[in-house]
Amino acid sequence: MTPFTYAEAHAQDFVEQLKEWLRIPSISTQSELKPELERAAFWLRDHCLSIGLTRAEVFPTPRHPVVYAEWLGAGPNAPTVLVYGHYDVQPVDDPYREWKSDPFEPVEREGHLYGRGATDDKGQTFIHLKAFEAHFRATGSFPVNVKFLVEGEEESGSESLPAFIQANVDLLRADVLVISDSHIISTEQPSLVYGLRGIFTAEVEVFGPRGDLHSGSYGGTVHNPVQALVEILAQLHDAQGRVTVPGFYDDVLPLLAEDRRALAQSPMDEARLVKETGVPRPWGEPDYSIAERIGARPTLELNGIVGGWIGEGSKTVIPARALAKISCRLVPNQDPNQIFALLQQGIAALTPPTVRSEVRMIHAGGPAAMVPIDAKPIQAAVEAYEAVFGTRPLFLREGGSIPIVAGLQGALDVPVVLMGFGLPDDNLHAPNEKFTLAMFHKGIQTMLHFYQRLPALL
Ligand code: BES
Ligand code: ZN
Repeated sequence: MTPFTYAEAHAQDFVEQLKEWLRIPSISTQSELKPELERAAFWLRDHCLSIGLTRAEVFPTPRHPVVYAEWLGAGPNAPTVLVYGHYDVQPVDDPYREWKSDPFEPVEREGHLYGRGATDDKGQTFIHLKAFEAHFRATGSFPVNVKFLVEGEEESGSESLPAFIQANVDLLRADVLVISDSHIISTEQPSLVYGLRGIFTAEVEVFGPRGDLHSGSYGGTVHNPVQALVEILAQLHDAQGRVTVPGFYDDVLPLLAEDRRALAQSPMDEARLVKETGVPRPWGEPDYSIAERIGARPTLELNGIVGGWIGEGSKTVIPARALAKISCRLVPNQDPNQIFALLQQGIAALTPPTVRSEVRMIHAGGPAAMVPIDAKPIQAAVEAYEAVFGTRPLFLREGGSIPIVAGLQGALDVPVVLMGFGLPDDNLHAPNEKFTLAMFHKGIQTMLHFYQRLPALL
């Protein structure tokens, strides 16, 4: 049996095992689910040991544990691959009633596996475990040494991970870092991500009167905090969609001609955006194409806003406070802490003397990451995609963030390969997240090609 035929013969077993992992509701932002994150970590450790990895451990951190596993049987002269992934998932109240089936009871429908984490990122991480298992069980060996680093805080900013990496640089030492936590263009057209945006998240709270007031007795005499908040928020962009926070763009590097050429190949354009999202018209910086706005421009997004009465019927009240959640996507050369400080100053300057405001960091996320595409492992990735999909991948910059990538790249000084197997319509962070099963199986085949090609290139 070859690794490829092993994977084909066990395709359904692999899916059933993935379903077990998906049943564990490991939502990292919900503190009451902490035991479930532990359960997901220990499930993974046990699974790693069951497929032939020789060491697998759960390391506690101040928040959710990190799972580390390895097989170093290829020997000291063979290259070592570090696979990074995350076992935490996004919340499901998005809204919950729009899920057609229980987010934590994965089901197969029409060739897709539905469930929270199916793609992001349990399913995509599982591809690597199954590629290892297929090769190891079929041949008794693996072409390279492998290390797995799978964390539980990616969806909440990877806050505990930098300290873990600093303390374990030797343990994590590798020749290449491989991550499957992104998507390709379509089942027919693979793509390789060569840039990810950075991110930080924050909240702004506006305080007015000491407590809620009767709007008849006080309306027109105190500045309503909900009103003041939206007045502030409304000034954070200009009419062209540019962020107005002073200094926001100061460190942004001009877009290179080669980036513009690469992004011009992206299928994402105005028509596709309208079709995918249902908006009447696109919006945003007019000097940049849609693909450039997504992959190569920084943004400031309002993620949510609360304040005052939102229950049934009306309540004539002037609320005491109002709050908004904000995130900024960043591009290379922008520092998350510095941009956060600019946001704080900008909002302070916009706050009228009639209310008080506070801007707090939720998490510092991480800076943008760029992957040099002339690195040798990229060649292996190109060939692997071509072998399975019959077409060479396009190189694209993506708008999403994997906060730790730049940190890992720096701490370990390794080339990074971002090989996604998701599809643009997988409903990440939304109801009915799904993984196309053909992509799961093609992912395993692609990774087998990748791992087999790597030793000759490094
Ligand atoms: N898998 C995504 C990142 C991603 C999305 C890469 C789309 C490429 C294309 C990842 O799990 C994610 O969603 N990250 C968060 C991080 C944040 C919560 C700190 C993100 O980008 O919002
Ligand atoms: Zn993810």
